[in-house]
Amino acid sequence: MKRRIVIVAFIMAININLGIAQEKLLSLIPYPQKVTLVDNDFNITKSVKILIDKSDKEMLRLAEVLNRSLAQNLKITSKARVSKVIEIAIDKSLAKSSEAYQLIVNRKNVKITAANYAGVFYGIQTLHQLVEGDLIKGVMIEDEPRFKYRGLHIDVCRHFFPVEFIKKFIDVMAFYKYNNLHWHLTEDQGWRIEIKKYPKLTEIGSKRAQTKIGHYGDKLHEFDGVPVEGFYTQEQIKEIVAYAKGKYINVIPEIEMPGHATAALTSYPHLGCKGEDYKVAENWGVFHTIYCAGKESTFKFLEDVIDEVVELFPSKYIHIGGDEAFKDHWKECLLCKKRMEEEGLKDFHELQSYFIQRMEKYINSKGKQIIGWDEILEGGLAPNATVMSWRGMKGGIAAANMDHDVIMTPGSPCYFDNYQGPKSDEPLAIGGMNTLEKVYEFNPFPKELPTEKHHFILGAQANLWSEYIKTEDHMEYMAYPRACALSEVLWSSEKKSSFEEFKNRMKKHYEFLDAMNVNYFDKEK
Ligand code: ACM
Ligand code: ZN
Repeated sequence: MKRRIVIVAFIMAININLGIAQEKLLSLIPYPQKVTLVDNDFNITKSVKILIDKSDKEMLRLAEVLNRSLAQNLKITSKARVSKVIEIAIDKSLAKSSEAYQLIVNRKNVKITAANYAGVFYGIQTLHQLVEGDLIKGVMIEDEPRFKYRGLHIDVCRHFFPVEFIKKFIDVMAFYKYNNLHWHLTEDQGWRIEIKKYPKLTEIGSKRAQTKIGHYGDKLHEFDGVPVEGFYTQEQIKEIVAYAKGKYINVIPEIEMPGHATAALTSYPHLGCKGEDYKVAENWGVFHTIYCAGKESTFKFLEDVIDEVVELFPSKYIHIGGDEAFKDHWKECLLCKKRMEEEGLKDFHELQSYFIQRMEKYINSKGKQIIGWDEILEGGLAPNATVMSWRGMKGGIAAANMDHDVIMTPGSPCYFDNYQGPKSDEPLAIGGMNTLEKVYEFNPFPKELPTEKHHFILGAQANLWSEYIKTEDHMEYMAYPRACALSEVLWSSEKKSSFEEFKNRMKKHYEFLDAMNVNYFDKEK
């Protein structure tokens, strides 16, 4: 009895001592909500077994995930009475958030429990980070995410990235407890998803002849003469979606409308207001090409595309873009003007809103919800839309105040295509400056938003636009370590550690990234 009191007092002392202001935390990212050190490490030997309910197929799969992440091949058993075990189990009584877990490591056992499989998966990620050789640090962890949407976006249109790379990108996301991959699949510079009903989208729209050299703002107007092409077959898409699901990552496809449609219109010119003269874009920036909002054939086409998309993606959300749609072609189009008259629309913003709302209705009829960039607020927000706030936080604030869900991805600091170090030292980027520290200090809850509206902020996301990112190495270099910092913003307590302390923990994570063969920016190396 006496001994127990001493042990409890000891644990409490360490726990208090471990307040987040403490000098040195364990090298965990994102840092768990509650960590208590136990002076009692677990030694992984050959006799250790993984204890699970073997009749549970998903748990069996997770036991294999655990073995891989520990770089072990431990026997898997259902027999509770073996001596040293790493146990993973579902415990419905633990239900806090659906992604919560508990992890206990002591000399005899390791135990991960969660109300759901996702929690078990996150417990395994944390365990992976606690391993030093054959030792696992003694701890008691209670953890759950601060935000339910933790996303990264990847643009595979400006430059194409193959299936194997997308899988690797997903691996690293999972390690940092991200749960949404926003896959930007259609653009002016390339259409990258096979649509069986419209084969020209990939026969024509997935290819561009060349790319402008240098920054798009440069006066020099030279092209490299190097063709860029690539798309994902539907089989490959299914493969990636299933792969991500195995890591508890939802994949959200983005099919852009009504703007950013040059590749689609090059493939099927009758869908534009002009009906001709389109070419898959070879330069960056915002183009005037736009789907005609007056033609029924536009909606038929987009509905057909959505029909195939919803079959491929189990995601509750379909992203419909909605950003940067110049209305010049609409202004010159008799059919678009006729549509406005018939629908009583007073300006071209309302015509865009008509367009988005009509597509929302269709997508809702398929049991899905739309996400759109914050321009979808203009001319009237579609009734069930989630808004992705990219032009700062104001679109997100407006949407949350209208009781709409919001995902925060403000250019500063969530655009990871921006510079992260002095321009003179860095590869060409679009502009801006989003340093690691700026990302770490980001708070997805804007000061201006009343607390009672905070629950509309589902979370945040960083975006990796690929105009200037041509290679896999460069993509990773722009993503990491900034995505480590954002993972902590999204998962850890709002009262997280200091940036200095985060940088300390990052040292170990450069080793993890090395082990995963992931490239990264590291100013201090
Ligand atoms: C965007 O960056 N155009 C959403
Ligand atoms: Zn038109």
